Amino acid sequence: MHIAIVGSGYVGLVAGACFADLGHQVILVDNDQKKLDALNQGQVPIHEKFLPELLDRHRGRTLTFSDDLRSAVEASEAIFIAVGTPPTEQGNADLSYVESVARIIPSAINGYKVIVEKSTVPVYTSEWIRKIILRNAAAPDSFDVASNPEFLREGTAVTDFFYPDRIVVGADNERCASVLRAIYAPLTDGSYYRRANAIPRPDRAQIPPPLILTSTKSAELIKHASNAFLAMKISFINAVASVCEAVGANVQQVCQGIGTDSRIGPKFLNPGIGYGGSCFPKDLMAFRAVARESGYEFRLLDEVMRINEDQRQRFLRKVRNALWTLRGKRLGVLGLAFKGGTDDIRESPAILLVQTLVQEGCQIAVYDPAAQERAREVLNASIEYASDAYEAARGADALLILTEWDEFASLDLDRLHQQLKYPIVIDGRNLYDPESMAARGFTYYSVGRAAVMPEALPLQAGAPPRKASSS
Ligand code: UGA
Repeated sequence: MHIAIVGSGYVGLVAGACFADLGHQVILVDNDQKKLDALNQGQVPIHEKFLPELLDRHRGRTLTFSDDLRSAVEASEAIFIAVGTPPTEQGNADLSYVESVARIIPSAINGYKVIVEKSTVPVYTSEWIRKIILRNAAAPDSFDVASNPEFLREGTAVTDFFYPDRIVVGADNERCASVLRAIYAPLTDGSYYRRANAIPRPDRAQIPPPLILTSTKSAELIKHASNAFLAMKISFINAVASVCEAVGANVQQVCQGIGTDSRIGPKFLNPGIGYGGSCFPKDLMAFRAVARESGYEFRLLDEVMRINEDQRQRFLRKVRNALWTLRGKRLGVLGLAFKGGTDDIRESPAILLVQTLVQEGCQIAVYDPAAQERAREVLNASIEYASDAYEAARGADALLILTEWDEFASLDLDRLHQQLKYPIVIDGRNLYDPESMAARGFTYYSVGRAAVMPEALPLQAGAPPRKASSS
């Protein structure tokens, strides 16, 4: 199939490279000439596993880059709109980029086209796109508007694309649905997975994935409802973690106990410092706004957002409990990205915490494997950037773990201990087992589990850790 993708951000770029890998002919359209030049020269603007390989495989052959939307539409049967939908001051999604693309499309319609919403948009957007295209003199039967939401997570987006739990296609007639079915056929008929150079299958991935066909409106809602539900799961477990701290229970054990119920499931039950990123915070506000406009006050979402904010404040209280006063304290910080595996710092709780700690007068040395360059643009110039976790910890009054990078979960603890001025670790991502941290001589604070401190000398192997004064 010939496909145009408008917008070369995270979603557009990943989808473009992956569609090309499925065997389609893809034109990625963007109006940022610098970005296009960089892509043409082989640069990869985002940190995303397998994306460099896919771009190398298809760049200049089945994947081309262009700033000419009209020609791309003329050459394509399906046009995916993957432009930004940033939040307005009121929390609605700003759809002006979507509208401007929809206004240009009609002048390039030279046969039946399917216009596909790929960006996260509120329900009714498909109706608006249709109206705008008709208003600009396209014949009603020359196009259809479909919704094909993505469920890609940053950092694992390529794997998520090829091994999804489901593919959702919102289309209001069979002609339109059949175009999207054909695009995803290599996944749904399983042929992609038999290829020698297929992207490796992750554990427990079910192949082939089901394709769920819905109305366009339902598909639009599925995207917002999915993200809202996942964010709700995170806030729920963060609230449970707070209760665990108050009563002396262990949230990890609670998670195991509830997550093994197949109706609940173990995923997205990791407590921490709250969710961030370019999706959950924005999508929750947008979903809240859509519900309100349609006459429903979705107050549950307010509470999900409130708990999320509160989680950062609770973490700051932990830092204060561990260190008493903050002014002049030197803190090692591990992690700036909003989650592990990405260089994205948008709405990152780690960045927000570092900014607050700087305001409180702390001296910060930070290490993040991928996000340091981006963070420099937004963080105070006084921050020191370390070249590894141990350098960040050197001479620090405490070490804070703010992002769940795999490499932060397997540090050489003896080396870390030697680097720190005081062996205090405040872990916002529960990467370590409290008992083993106490046994290795650390005072260790985490989320939803009692804080522990090392036994007074000499350390006795196997002795239960002493509880620290506060969690
Ligand atoms: C999220 C969704 O997971 C994707 O399905 C969706 O396609 C995407 O948004 C989107 O709308 O584009 P993403 O924002 O990349 O993906 O990141 P997640 O892996 O969902 O993590 C979001 C935040 O929640 C991170 O800050 C992460 O640290 C936090 N989180 C996640 C937790 O605190 N606990 C968990 O158990 C899981």
